[in-house]
Amino acid sequence: MVTASAPGKVYLFGEHAVVYGEPAVPCAVERRATVAVEERADGRLRVDARDLEIEGFTVEYGAATDELGVEVPTELLEAATEYVDGAVEQARDACDVSDVGFDVTVESEIPLGAGLGSSAAVVVATIAATAAELGVELDPREVATRAYQVESDVQDGQASRADTFCSAMGGAVRVEGEDCRTLDAPDLPFVIGFDGGSGNTGELVAGVRDLRERYDFAADTVTAIGDIVRRGEAVLTEDDPSLDELGRLMDFDHGLLEALGVSSRSLDEMVWTAREAGAYGAKLTGAGGGGCIVALDDSPATETALSYSQSCEVAFRAELARDGVIVP
Ligand code: PMV
Repeated sequence: MVTASAPGKVYLFGEHAVVYGEPAVPCAVERRATVAVEERADGRLRVDARDLEIEGFTVEYGAATDELGVEVPTELLEAATEYVDGAVEQARDACDVSDVGFDVTVESEIPLGAGLGSSAAVVVATIAATAAELGVELDPREVATRAYQVESDVQDGQASRADTFCSAMGGAVRVEGEDCRTLDAPDLPFVIGFDGGSGNTGELVAGVRDLRERYDFAADTVTAIGDIVRRGEAVLTEDDPSLDELGRLMDFDHGLLEALGVSSRSLDEMVWTAREAGAYGAKLTGAGGGGCIVALDDSPATETALSYSQSCEVAFRAELARDGVIVP
């Protein structure tokens, strides 16, 4: 049996605009998906994704068994199955085998569908663990490319390379179309607030597309997010980056995302709670509509204030994950 893990991520800058070819800077955070893979003699695939931050469930070759009598949203089950199926298929392809079966056990510390790249982390760790179980150590860049293919297939072509590249490589990265690079960034004092919910990425992306086609000023807003990313990347890679400046740019980015209609009351409230607690800056992360915000604060004030905020289900500090996919 082989176990691999891969980190989730926050968007420091650039979600949504990245869909239209602008750059984005996601950062891997120390919250991991861990996947154990063991070859089976009978050629079947069995996926146990009991611990995906929701109550227990088992997915067996596409058929959902609710082990604990808990109602589990079917979309979540189907999505988990599709991602893991796709990842195993990619690993088989990389290793030139077609009929080998596996037991796959998925555990994750990353809230699902909340802007922290949970599916990318599961896919990256599954590809790496499955290939390693077949005796092949894949280069993290190849894992990233194959993981992107899985996300793109499952999400009907609506995926950027940001989540999968960041999870495979770790650290801060820059993604612009197919051009993916790692950045030399210092540790950043991230605080994450999670409202307990999630947004519908497909609908949110479609909403921005619609606004962008309808109004020039919405298209300009998307371009302005790209300008923030370029400025943010320059600051981030300075010798001693100014947290004040990074925070100001995060605030600006959030304001533009809000204007594009992808924030929500609970996300805005958590952003304001963080700012009022003295964070350098705060913004939603990921598709929006609900889920997580990310703030920069090197004092405990933001985490404490968020944990008392009504909009926030859970707040936690998250170190920048230097390691991407790890296959021990
Ligand atoms: O919510 P997440 O982590 O899947 O991020 C979505 C980010 C978008 O830019 C809205 C879409 C994408 O694929 O880049």
